[in-house]
Amino acid sequence: MNVVSVSTQPIDGQKPGTSGLRKKVKVFSQPGYLENFVQSIFDNLSGQQGKTLVLGGDGRYFNDTAIQIILRMAAAAGFGRVLVGQNGILSTPAASAVIRKQAAFGGIILSASHNPGGPDGDFGIKYNLANGGPANETFTEAVYQRSRSISVYKYVDAPDIDLGVPGETLLGDMKVQVIDPVADYAALQESLFDFNKIAELLARPEFRMRFDAMHAVTGPYAKAILEGRLGAPAGTVVNGDPLPDFGGGHPDPNPVYAADLVAALADPHSGLSFGAASDGDGDRNMIVGRDFIVSPSDSLAVLAANYQYIPAYSGGLAGVARSMPTSCAVDRVAQSLGIPCFETPTGWKFFGSLLDAGQLTLCGEESAGTGSNHVREKDGLWAVLFWLNILAARNETAPQIVREHWRKFGRNVYSRHDYEGIETAKADRLFAELRGKLPGLAGTEISGMRVELADDFAYTDPVDGSRSEKQGVRVLLQGGSRVVFRLSGTGTEGATLRVYLERYVADAALHEVPTQEALAPLVALAEKIANIATITGRDAPDVIS
Ligand code: G1P
Ligand code: ZN
Repeated sequence: MNVVSVSTQPIDGQKPGTSGLRKKVKVFSQPGYLENFVQSIFDNLSGQQGKTLVLGGDGRYFNDTAIQIILRMAAAAGFGRVLVGQNGILSTPAASAVIRKQAAFGGIILSASHNPGGPDGDFGIKYNLANGGPANETFTEAVYQRSRSISVYKYVDAPDIDLGVPGETLLGDMKVQVIDPVADYAALQESLFDFNKIAELLARPEFRMRFDAMHAVTGPYAKAILEGRLGAPAGTVVNGDPLPDFGGGHPDPNPVYAADLVAALADPHSGLSFGAASDGDGDRNMIVGRDFIVSPSDSLAVLAANYQYIPAYSGGLAGVARSMPTSCAVDRVAQSLGIPCFETPTGWKFFGSLLDAGQLTLCGEESAGTGSNHVREKDGLWAVLFWLNILAARNETAPQIVREHWRKFGRNVYSRHDYEGIETAKADRLFAELRGKLPGLAGTEISGMRVELADDFAYTDPVDGSRSEKQGVRVLLQGGSRVVFRLSGTGTEGATLRVYLERYVADAALHEVPTQEALAPLVALAEKIANIATITGRDAPDVIS
């Protein structure tokens, strides 16, 4: 085996964010950039010799180049085998499923999730552990530190591997096994849900579904599961061919970027009764009923409240969890079920230890992510199948189910306002001033609302005791309403300010008030507290979801 050592120098800015390292393709394709980061990961592993690594990505531009580089480096790092998805494809939840099922040592996932792709788009990479979940902050920080002192990276000199056909090849002493990216994942889903019931629902003439894969990775998965195993009519999955630039779109399943799907479900002539979409790497989901968008926070709460219809969960939920900015709707379900509800910082990595410890069954985030203990990533298609299983079992529509949920638990009206591409200095100033105000806020009245608590969210992992500080500023108001301010940890240009707005409305007579109207007083309060317009010069958010 011909191992080549290349001298290198640290490259600035290789600090992983909410979900791995994300940068522009132009940054990633600089000589040595990817190599330095991958070597920094490998230098933090021990015991990988002879073990299995799982490798794949969402198929975005640069995926194939990166995979060949990583394969050669994995051989030099001593891995015995790499399982790589055919054509380099593995959705994020499928990678997690494969790591677990094949008892791999770990995995590398190539994706920038919902960020646009293409030569001018984004690329990303993250390392997942043997449990199938993203490495924790201690590990990602160690990788970053390594990237600041790295002096050499290593690879095995060998030609590119053909990833187009399943099979096994040797790269140096390491086996490269090209696997069907869908098989393990689809089998896992089938073991969780009542596929017969879902198939019956999909066969009903009055039930018509559309799944929008947004030209991203879930196309092949959705086709194989919905149209294949479950027998949905051909054409149920639209935009189902993954493209390196996602067809020029923004593969983020929210009302702004999946506007076509929302419009189709709002059109009485479309005949559609249920819609769903997933993101670039297949871990996010959007659920749409006829003329009705289910907010992701509500979706998590509804899934938790209907666990009894799902074979895998019908024995009961150990607990549920949500990220701090996610609405408190699921907390009310947990309370009524008498199970714990954990509040974690943003990012799936925080759910991992609780899932591993068996303290948690379902979890989710406001950013269209829901999942369970079946893998250690959020899982877009899983959420869609969960919904279909509920619809089939209850024989009701999604809007009926959500409205009934509100009547029972009250409605946590919720929205996120994003201000994108703010100058970093302005964002820093906004947060410095905001944090300065926090100690004086509790007990005061702003715009007629009483502040009960104002702090910078910090979290101690109940399982491993690790501490994460400065995870977002939260202002809790009397009556269960909240405003949360956070800076995105996944963006690649300037800073993105996220303002999360939540208002608890118990009175069913007010449940149909349009979301933005119901939240207007909280928008005003957020402005008063954070001076967004004055500091950033922006008088309206770029994206409202
Ligand atoms: C965003 C979401 C967060 C999610 C992450 C990865 O991170 O807000 O919930 O876990 O993407 O999909 P952010 O950009 O806010 O740091
Ligand atoms: Zn994603």
